[in-house]
Parts: sequence; structure tokens; C-alpha cells
Amino acid sequence: MDVIRVYGGTRLAGEVPVAGAKNSALKLMAAALLAPGRTTITNAPGITDISIMAEVLRRLGCAVEVDGGDITIDTPEELEPEADYNLVRRLRASICVLGPLLARCRHARVAHPGGDAIGSRGLDMHVAGLSRMGAEIGSEHGFVVARAEQLTGAQIWLDFPSVGATENILMAAVLARGTTVIDNAAREPEIVDLATMLNSMGAQVSGAGTATLEVTGVDAMHPTTHRTVGDRIVAGTWAFGAVMTRGDVTVRGVRAANLSVALDKLTDAGAAIEQLPEADGVPAFRVAIDRRPTAVDVVTLPFPGFATDLLPMAIGLGAVSGGVSLITENIFDGRFMFVNEMSRLGADIRTDGHHAVVRGRERLSGAPVRASDIRAGAGLAIAGLCAEGTTEVSHVHHIDRGYPHFVEQLRSLGAKAERCTAPDDDFGY
Ligand code: EPU
Repeated sequence: MDVIRVYGGTRLAGEVPVAGAKNSALKLMAAALLAPGRTTITNAPGITDISIMAEVLRRLGCAVEVDGGDITIDTPEELEPEADYNLVRRLRASICVLGPLLARCRHARVAHPGGDAIGSRGLDMHVAGLSRMGAEIGSEHGFVVARAEQLTGAQIWLDFPSVGATENILMAAVLARGTTVIDNAAREPEIVDLATMLNSMGAQVSGAGTATLEVTGVDAMHPTTHRTVGDRIVAGTWAFGAVMTRGDVTVRGVRAANLSVALDKLTDAGAAIEQLPEADGVPAFRVAIDRRPTAVDVVTLPFPGFATDLLPMAIGLGAVSGGVSLITENIFDGRFMFVNEMSRLGADIRTDGHHAVVRGRERLSGAPVRASDIRAGAGLAIAGLCAEGTTEVSHVHHIDRGYPHFVEQLRSLGAKAERCTAPDDDFGY
């Protein structure tokens, strides 16, 4: 098992390119199931979750090639309706093959998905939405089993703007008979990206980016080529890293508008945010600060609110800011699980239910810590840059799931960091 070693005391400075969003590319890959033929997805991130999803699609009968940021998916006329149990268990996003499989094969068996240790992650809204469209859905031997001779359009009201449920219902609705309306739909840029790709495949989806999606079913879809939207969470990670280390970072590949609330918080913390002109269609923004950040309060909410995936960065920022921050998490009940690890670095954090009170310290203190999920791992490594001495982050396979070339990018911004094999006496800690 590898560890990432970070040496504290350097500020992040320079330019960092950000690839396409994990949470978009994985769903775009699932969408390719909707049309027989060759679909190409570009600007995909080089992360392990993409490799796992590629394997999920291969087991469904697709030929998939991943070549740098380009993924080509050859989807057959006849798909296998069962998604591999062991693969799906490793990846939350793989539940998104349920909608397309049901639409194409009329039945589907998909294992209950896995994902991060950030709390309970139900499927009730996925199930309720697809049931509304005429599917019979149950659970058998660890699989979600769904059947529908003919999916039909329906009026669906989500209890919560769930990203995954919106995507699954949307991907089933594009081939359903009649019109589906999804109310209280998720509005994330990744949903807009998916809807854009679906429309370029012949679907009729309107309202993406608003709380009401309207989908008029079509008889068949055709393959397409689609460029993945930039990863706003990776971009936000570098933006927070810049402020925590009192640095100056230009982030390329993501629109500042997709991170408005987060960047606004960084402005409140004392940073200057500058939207830069697009170069060859690639958006960019710059984040710079030359003093200790001021504590800010943060509340996570569905988009356009502050993203829950940036919560570890918000806690890290609070840990080194001047003053006290109140951080409130509203999306995942286990999101604070990593806080004990952050405390090993000397961070002063107290949690109560879905609130954390963080008292800023001038400096943290390097220590061995363990990544419990993708974002916690990145947050701990960035916090390590603000710590005296060495911080060693273990279980870095979590970081590999979501951050392409994480150590290389850290180093390109001037950080002293390296990836090494865990010492023998690590006992898997
Ligand atoms: N929920 C239910 N029932 C459902 C669906 C969701 O109770 O049927 C609950 C979840 O348990 C959670 C909340 O609703 O408490 C939000 O879940 P949502 O469905 O919106 O999230 P997701 O689709 O499972 C995606 C991202 C997450 C990101 C969330 C929120 C993917 C693969 N994952 O998860 O990303 O945090 O949206 O924005 O797209 C990450 O990338 O590190 C990550 C965890």
C-alpha cells in the first residue's frame, strides 16, 4: 500500500490544469449504454473509478478503450442486463447503469453499490422514480432487480434533489413512452453535462440546471462524441489549497461560476479571486492571498450551494484560519468521520451532530493520518502542507479514485510531496 508524504511549509503557487469531472464522466459512460454503436467521451480524468466503470461496461457487453482522456465505448445491440457484483460494490456511480439497462433491456440486475465511507446512501428515490415509470423493482441476494416491459413517462417529485436519482431516472426516461417530469431535480453542472450529452444522442431533455427536468421519450438514441465538463471539486481543492498555504494558484479547465459559493467563501476569507479570459475555450480563474485567512462559516447544500465534497477542505481552511468557523454538513451523515484524522494534525475541531466548530491555529503539526474517502484524503494532504514537519497519508487508493496525478499536481505547484511504499511496520494503518 502506498502512502503520500507531504512536507509542510511551502505555499502552493503556479498553474494547474483540471481534467473532466469524475462525477460526470462516470455517468456519461453509463449513458453510452443507451445507444448501440461507438460513443466517445473526451476530457475524462485518469482515475481508478474510470477503470472500474470501464470494466462494469465490458461485463455488460461493451468494448471499452481508455486512452488518456479519451474513452471509446462500443455498445452492442444486445446488452447483458446484469452488472458484475464485485465491481459495482466498489463504485457508487455504477448504480447509474440501472436506468439505461432497464430502458434498453427491459430488465436489469445491478448490485447494491459501494462508494465512500461518508454515511448511509439510500436508493429509495431511484426506486420510487423508476417505479413511477412502471418498473417493478425489488432486492434479491444483494442485487437491485428491476423489470419493465414498457417504461412510461410520469410526474416524479424527488424528496431531495439527489444527484444519482436524478441521473438514473433521466437516463430511463429518455427511452420511455411519453413525457417524464422530474421535479426537485438536482441542478449540478454534472446533470447539465449529462443532459447535454443525452440531447446530442437524440434525446429530448429540457430544463437541465433548473429544479424541473422535462423529458420526452424517443424511440432510439444514437452514439455521440462528448467533452466532459471540468471537475469543480478538484478545482475547488486547489483553490482551498492556495488559500490555506497563503499561495497564488491559477486553475484551468473549470468555470468559476460552477464554484460560486466556494469561491465567495474564499473571498470572505481574504483571498482575491480573478476570473481569467478563456484560452482556446478553456476557462480559468486565479486565487491568491498573502496573509493568514480569516475564519468563515460554511453550510453544505445541493448545487448551487457549497458542495459537500469540499467539506474536508472547508474544515482544513478553518483549522489554519484566524478565528472560529462553524461548518454545517447537510448531505451525508458520516461526512465528519475523517475529523479525528485532521485532529491528529493538531486541528482543533469539535463536532456535534451535523455541525463542526473549528478553532484556527497558526500552524498544524505533521503526523501519520489515514484517508477514509476521496475528499478526506485530499483534504488531509493539503492540511499537511500547513503543518510543521512531515505528514504521511495512508490508504491513498481513495485519493486515486478521484484525483488524477495528485502528487504530480501538488509538486507542480511547488509542494514538497512524494508517493512511497508504506513502511513494513505500517500494519495497514
Ligand atoms: N439519498 C437517499 N435516497 C436516495 C438517494 C440519495 O436517501 O435514493 C440521500 C443520500 O444518502 C445522501 C443524499 O441523499 O444523504 C444525497 O445523495 P445524492 O444522491 O445526491 O448523492 P450521490 O448521487 O450518491 C453524488 C456524488 C458524490 C457527491 C453527491 C452530492 C457521484 C458518483 N457521487 O453522490 O460525490 O458527494 O452526489 O453532491 O456522483 C465524491 O465524488 O467524493 C462523492 C462522494
